[in-house]
Amino acid sequence: MRFPAEPFKIKVVEPLRMTTQPEREQLIREAGYNVFNLPAESIYIDLLTDSGTAAMSDRQWSGLMVGDESYAGSRSYYRFEETVHAIFGFKHIIPTHQGRMAENLLFTSMVRPGDVVPNNIHFDTTRANVEHNEGIALDQVIDEAYDPKAEHPFKGNMDLRKLAETIRREGRERIPLVMLTITNNSGGGQPVSLENIRQTKLLLSRYGIPLFFDACRFAENAFFIQEREAGYQDKKISDIVREIFSYGDGCTMSAKKDGLVNIGGFIATNDDQLAEKITNLLILVEGFPTYGGLAGRDLEAMAIGLQEVLDEEYLRFRVGQVRYLGELLDNAGVPILKPIGGHAVYLNAKEFLPAIPQEQFPGQSLVVALYREYGIRAVEIGTLMFGKKDPATGKIICPELEMVRLAIPRRVYTNMQISYVAESIIELFRNRNRVRGLKLVYEAPVLRHFTARLEEMGS
Ligand code: F0G
Repeated sequence: MRFPAEPFKIKVVEPLRMTTQPEREQLIREAGYNVFNLPAESIYIDLLTDSGTAAMSDRQWSGLMVGDESYAGSRSYYRFEETVHAIFGFKHIIPTHQGRMAENLLFTSMVRPGDVVPNNIHFDTTRANVEHNEGIALDQVIDEAYDPKAEHPFKGNMDLRKLAETIRREGRERIPLVMLTITNNSGGGQPVSLENIRQTKLLLSRYGIPLFFDACRFAENAFFIQEREAGYQDKKISDIVREIFSYGDGCTMSAKKDGLVNIGGFIATNDDQLAEKITNLLILVEGFPTYGGLAGRDLEAMAIGLQEVLDEEYLRFRVGQVRYLGELLDNAGVPILKPIGGHAVYLNAKEFLPAIPQEQFPGQSLVVALYREYGIRAVEIGTLMFGKKDPATGKIICPELEMVRLAIPRRVYTNMQISYVAESIIELFRNRNRVRGLKLVYEAPVLRHFTARLEEMGS
């Protein structure tokens, strides 16, 4: 079989309302050509994010019933703590309501103004939380990560030369920790190799700098290691995961990805003093340490999800389904980022719509066309998200990459629905001359892509 079929059957279904093209035409116009403003009910296939969108299993749903809602010492917490400890190996496990709260507590506890925090590539919220503490967030991924065509098996790897240079330049005192994001979301869901993790740890231990993982998609990263890294083909995913985290001093986790839940996260660390500091802050902003910002039932569902995500059949299907979509597009000549990542396929909008200048948002134009014509919601990662106005000339400064991310929710869509997505995009690619550029009519001063309003050129 070229790609694995679903290793589950469907027990509960959520009907999807099919909309017509004229309906969507009106809805997208009313939404200011911004898919964040659309009612989710008007979407057929929603590929906005893989975060918090997973389908839980029957075991997770039954876990919700046995969740213990005690304020302190909840049985569900102990179960959660035991599970995370067994999988990741860290000493202190502190639940939070999602990933960015884990980041906030970690950086508030570790980063002083002027400190430098290197990462392969910081995810938006990680960067924002470092900067919120007046630290400097540095991206030190290998150069190949910035070339959408470079076929590197571990394109998320840290560039050890860049990292060593940063440590020499800044000095150990200004670097409270180094992070590794697995898989590297902002670089296209690309994995980090165990060899690179080992070497990063080796370099950092010479200076006594702690290594933390941004572990959101740790199981998908482990799957790529098993598939691609010499010596790991016969290792179990759970053993690869244990080895990854054995090189770390802790991690932040958004369980909304590889925790297979709709809400949840945690911080883990081996450092007693750090754990104490974070716990005190947690009580102030989230809740008592045996529930974080969650209900007991959420902890129960997270513990079960974290075990299910290590299932090799599941992972083969999961990464295989994303790859299936990517390969259908690639074989039809649709320009995508290579290699295909673990959680999403990225369309290269500059090549998809070469007639639309980057100042007219080709990525967003593609997103609009996918919704209007096919009811598919994707997300732009390009000029709308990262473009800046030059204060002197008023001209838009465009980012290097103009991408559209098709993030696949876990266990939600069938391969037939994924085929529908592929066929739609291929059809649009063949008729790409009909896609029009956009112009901004409203933008907020920060994070403008969430609330921006646009109009079609020539309308
Ligand atoms: N780190 C990474 C690598 C992420 O991808 C995300 C979220 C977070 C941290 C923050 O976690 O949302 O639970 O607070 N990524 C989502 C996405 C939003 O669509 O890629 P959170």
